Amino acid sequence: MLVFSGRRKKKLKSLAKADVAIIGGTGLEALLKDAEQIRVGTPYGLPPPISLGQVNGKPVAFLPRHGIHHSVPPHKVNYRANVFALYKIGVKQVVATNAVGAIKSDFEPGDLVVPHDLVDFTKLRQLTFYDDAPVTHVDMSQLYCPTIRALLIKTARERGVQVWDHAVLVCTEGPRYETPAEIEMFRRLSCDIVGMTSAPEAMLARELEMCYATICFVSNMAAGMQQQLTADEVANVAEKKNPVIQQILRETIKHLPSERHCLCAHALRAARFEVK
Ligand code: HPA
Repeated sequence: MLVFSGRRKKKLKSLAKADVAIIGGTGLEALLKDAEQIRVGTPYGLPPPISLGQVNGKPVAFLPRHGIHHSVPPHKVNYRANVFALYKIGVKQVVATNAVGAIKSDFEPGDLVVPHDLVDFTKLRQLTFYDDAPVTHVDMSQLYCPTIRALLIKTARERGVQVWDHAVLVCTEGPRYETPAEIEMFRRLSCDIVGMTSAPEAMLARELEMCYATICFVSNMAAGMQQQLTADEVANVAEKKNPVIQQILRETIKHLPSERHCLCAHALRAARFEVK
């Protein structure tokens, strides 16, 4: 059921469609032209208001992961409602942004990273749409869509922006930061960056055959690699990197293909057990 707020109920109903979505922190909705807010109900609950507008003439949705006032902590985000709401309005390609700490010592605060893989170390989250029959095992061999990843990297480099194109992101439960011993463990497991919001968001998108990739900004060195971690630091780097991330997202969205040739689009084809 789609629920619309405000006076423009009728007009919005016919506009409530977008092939592309951005999931990120508050502030990115500035990317959209002629944006209007909609509410989209799902069987998993009500996600935050979604902005629907245009980027380079393309209809694009923006979903603020932590709510419009940044009031939902990472472990309380309703990832299933968020992803399902986008699916319901027709989204097939998602470009996300995440704040991360750097585990790999080559990376520095302010760096941009497009991870190629993810380790899920969350503990309490609803992690699938497939809780019942038919038993469904979705392939995560290329969790992040290779097409969107390549476009994010190319777009950044064409603009002279340095971007790391290979990194394993580990997602922790939060909301606390990690201990130095946890970070040392993640380093030994070959993780390069750490955040609290990429899982299960990326996996849920793939479960619905959506393309999904993320551009991360490093807000701090991970625990044990700098004296102390503060929320201010994350907010400051987010504000500083916002303009360049917006530029990269705008250009990437402009060049997203309308026909999808990646495997993401067929993720369910080989995922189900046939009972014989
Ligand atoms: N750990 C987890 N999540 C984060 C960090 C971190 O160091 N920095 C930004 N998000």
